[in-house]
Amino acid sequence: MEKYIGVLTGGGDCPGLNAAIRGVVRRALIEDIPVLGIRAGWQGLIDGRLEPLTRYSVAGMQYRGGTMLGTSRCNPLTGEESLQRIQHNWRKFGLGALIVVGGNGTLSCASTMYAQHGYSIVGIPKTIDNDVPGTDYTFGFDTAVSIATEAIDRLHTTAEAHHRVMVVEVMGRHSGWIATFAGIAGGADLILIPERPFRLSEICEMLQKRREEGRPFSIVVVAEDSRPHPDEDFLTPEQRKRIYHEEHIGGIGQLVARKIEERINISARVTVLGYIQRGGTPTAYDRVLATRLGVHAVEMVTRGQFGMMASLSGTRIVEFPLDQMANRSKTVDPELFRTAEVFFG
Ligand code: F6P
Repeated sequence: MEKYIGVLTGGGDCPGLNAAIRGVVRRALIEDIPVLGIRAGWQGLIDGRLEPLTRYSVAGMQYRGGTMLGTSRCNPLTGEESLQRIQHNWRKFGLGALIVVGGNGTLSCASTMYAQHGYSIVGIPKTIDNDVPGTDYTFGFDTAVSIATEAIDRLHTTAEAHHRVMVVEVMGRHSGWIATFAGIAGGADLILIPERPFRLSEICEMLQKRREEGRPFSIVVVAEDSRPHPDEDFLTPEQRKRIYHEEHIGGIGQLVARKIEERINISARVTVLGYIQRGGTPTAYDRVLATRLGVHAVEMVTRGQFGMMASLSGTRIVEFPLDQMANRSKTVDPELFRTAEVFFG
């Protein structure tokens, strides 16, 4: 292949993106294929912000968080003008293939750009949320879980000292993977996830029972998109609108804590982990997974396996059709959540 491979990172950043970019560049070099890095996701392809990535520009990048290319939540499919500019830049920069590193939104765009607009695209799934269908795990997730687990460990000791309920709100968008994993690892007494609407009466009953049994402290992990069961909804329409805003989800932990205090007169404190979960150095696991996906994506390009993403199946990297993951979300495995429930109360 004489043309260039372009690579872009889109959507929220996550630890491991630079390791994936480095994997792409190093594997492409073996084939003598030059790689162009595209700035700020799809926006860079629209604006023509592409620059060569070399062995030296990606050197040592595997341990750095964020993305050396920058990112955006730009959707190239929203206007005819954007599509025309992409077509123009694709030719101008001599692209032969594009590797798109993204989560649900970015990879759904990639699927349409391949199927309806004919671009030669290979996807690489990433996100701390682990909610991309068709891959066992996404890189970024392990790092986020490690950070959340460490926070829970630290909250445990102060909760115990002060006889408090510690509510820990974690990210995850519409799925509860981070909450479930970090909750199991950190020994949470209760985990609330979007997949299982919660009842305040049950939460309070459980906390009170713990207190009566001589355990006057508790750790409650709350995924940011957790919702009250319709039978026991306590949110006003304004609160609902603010907490579950698509642009920025957050705030349910605070309300759960206040309700617990009101109902059972126990001191409750809230910790919102926020962007700490997304920033900084990736774990070794995430670096290795991202590197393997980057290398595999280039091999897919050389084999002409477009319209697919490199994905993790068990311990192997395989190919998965983009149209089968597009506009879908992977929710928490009920069997995994049953394991978490063994430790509730
Ligand atoms: O998808 C990753 C994620 O960090 C979610 O967990 C969170 O809801 C969202 O992104 C936050 O996005 P933003 O960076 O746009 O605030």
